Amino acid sequence: MGNLSLKRGEELLVGIETSDDAAIYRLTDDIAIVQTLDFFTPIVDDPYLFGQIAAANALSDIYAMGGEPKTAMNIVSFWPKLGYDILEQILRGGRDKVEESGANVIGGHTVEDKEPKYGLAVTGIIHPKKIITNSAAEEGDILVLTKPLGMGILATALKGGVVEEEEIMDAIDGARKLNAGGSAAMREIGIKACTDITGFGFLGHLFLMLKASQKGARIQANEVPVWDKAVEFAEIGLVPGGAATNRNFLGENISISSLVSDVTRDMLFDPQTSGGLLICVSRDKLDNLLESLGKQDVLSSAVVGEVTGNSAGFIEVV
Ligand code: CO
Ligand code: CO
Ligand code: CO
Repeated sequence: MGNLSLKRGEELLVGIETSDDAAIYRLTDDIAIVQTLDFFTPIVDDPYLFGQIAAANALSDIYAMGGEPKTAMNIVSFWPKLGYDILEQILRGGRDKVEESGANVIGGHTVEDKEPKYGLAVTGIIHPKKIITNSAAEEGDILVLTKPLGMGILATALKGGVVEEEEIMDAIDGARKLNAGGSAAMREIGIKACTDITGFGFLGHLFLMLKASQKGARIQANEVPVWDKAVEFAEIGLVPGGAATNRNFLGENISISSLVSDVTRDMLFDPQTSGGLLICVSRDKLDNLLESLGKQDVLSSAVVGEVTGNSAGFIEVV
């Protein structure tokens, strides 16, 4: 990525060097813009739900930085033969989610493509001194996760036709849930470090945060929340190829105790679509954070491990 990085002015507060969730550019002493883009192929059959999940996922990178979403632009690829009512439902799902966040869809662009894709470029605002990055994890910080894992496995099961959407609505509701509540709790407590869990899976995004922060981590595998139905499919080996890619991505930077089951390991590497926030909180602020999360609409506030002084990026799973 080195030769992609441009000369950075002092206004660029977060650029691409730390693989953070969004870029942040300062406009004035009090205001910076937070910018991100995400889009992907459908993971559910229902076009409205797909639109909602894609939008919740795109907005999530703003929330992970502690920002407030303001505007969003659709990015769409679509094949006209599928029928424009399908496209309309996707866009309506996205728009409803964006409006729920308090932001507005202000435009976008569509290209023809046999494989439909949808997502958004989102712009938010933040106070330049209140930015939450993936590079500020401190040794001793406790790690808190706000959504269960397993959505990649469930999406694979949906695609394979072995489960119906109605049977996994709790997880679909989870994927379309905004990370707004977790973000509000982080701002209330003054959290410095966070990332959201998406395509690289729990361990992949943890790894990126640890690399950026030059720290390690120890994870209590049994404390990590998972969707029950995903466990069922993982037990029969229905795991997306992305999980193996994520495993390879970590290379030598991981040690998993032999006491951790194969199923749990698969969950930890499972690529999430629109997962939760992984928050780093100092031990003395942990109770305050959990109390604040308790007042918000979040799916879980699971204490899953801690940041260690291990070599940068090294994760122990016990
Ligand atoms: Co992200
Ligand atoms: Co993203
Ligand atoms: Co255009």
